[in-house]
Amino acid sequence: MFVTFEGIDGSGKTTQVRRLAERLRAEGRDPLVAREPGGAALSERVRALLLDETLEVAPMAELLLFSAARAQLVEEKIRPALAAGRPVLCDRFYDSTTAYQGAGRALAAEGDASPAAGGGDDEGGESWLGRFHRRVTGGLVPARTFLLRLDPEEALRRREDAQQQSSTAPDRMEAGPARFHQRVADAYDALAARHPERFCVLDATEPPEALHAAIWEKVASLPRAADGGR
Ligand code: TYD
Repeated sequence: MFVTFEGIDGSGKTTQVRRLAERLRAEGRDPLVAREPGGAALSERVRALLLDETLEVAPMAELLLFSAARAQLVEEKIRPALAAGRPVLCDRFYDSTTAYQGAGRALAAEGDASPAAGGGDDEGGESWLGRFHRRVTGGLVPARTFLLRLDPEEALRRREDAQQQSSTAPDRMEAGPARFHQRVADAYDALAARHPERFCVLDATEPPEALHAAIWEKVASLPRAADGGR
């Protein structure tokens, strides 16, 4: 069972990943929990590069670095866990690349005739980015993707509050302009509309408890042995 969580920064994904993992553990299951970029030694080093606001990173370099981190995570952690029958929860996966680099950085539109869905993440392999994701993950597709949907302005307020409380600064991705975050949010909506069989869209302004209950209901109905190949 391979489940991913998506949404713009500040949408509360991480809380929901943690709660779902706790619930699975309470049921006697042993989930692998990973975050992207990261989750494996190489991927965590790539993460540090990607979030470093002192570095200049060209959009294509950014896409390749996120994808390099993912390829390693899939090979080293996700596939072995799925093969062992463990549930896998991932905080972001390739839909993030479609939304942030494909649409946010406008890379998907290059060389693609149908940029409408954030560059057309076409799991059937029509868009170059969709084909690329397939190569990166070896064809691994989440069984379910939860999109925590939030207005980008509300997300910005949440991030500012959190940063004030912890006296931290926005990272390199968060520091992008409002129109960047709006493009990312729009791309997520387009992805969810394009892949209704996989996406479950949730209103991130709902209380965390209600969100968790909705997520649990969907997860509990997934076949246990589903190995991510649907
Ligand atoms: P992180 O601190 O993990 O943010 P969050 O808690 O919101 O997930 O930082 C990850 C950042 O990297 C986030 O801004 C989204 C971005 N990102 C991409 O741009 N492309 C990707 O493929 C992935 C996985 C993340």
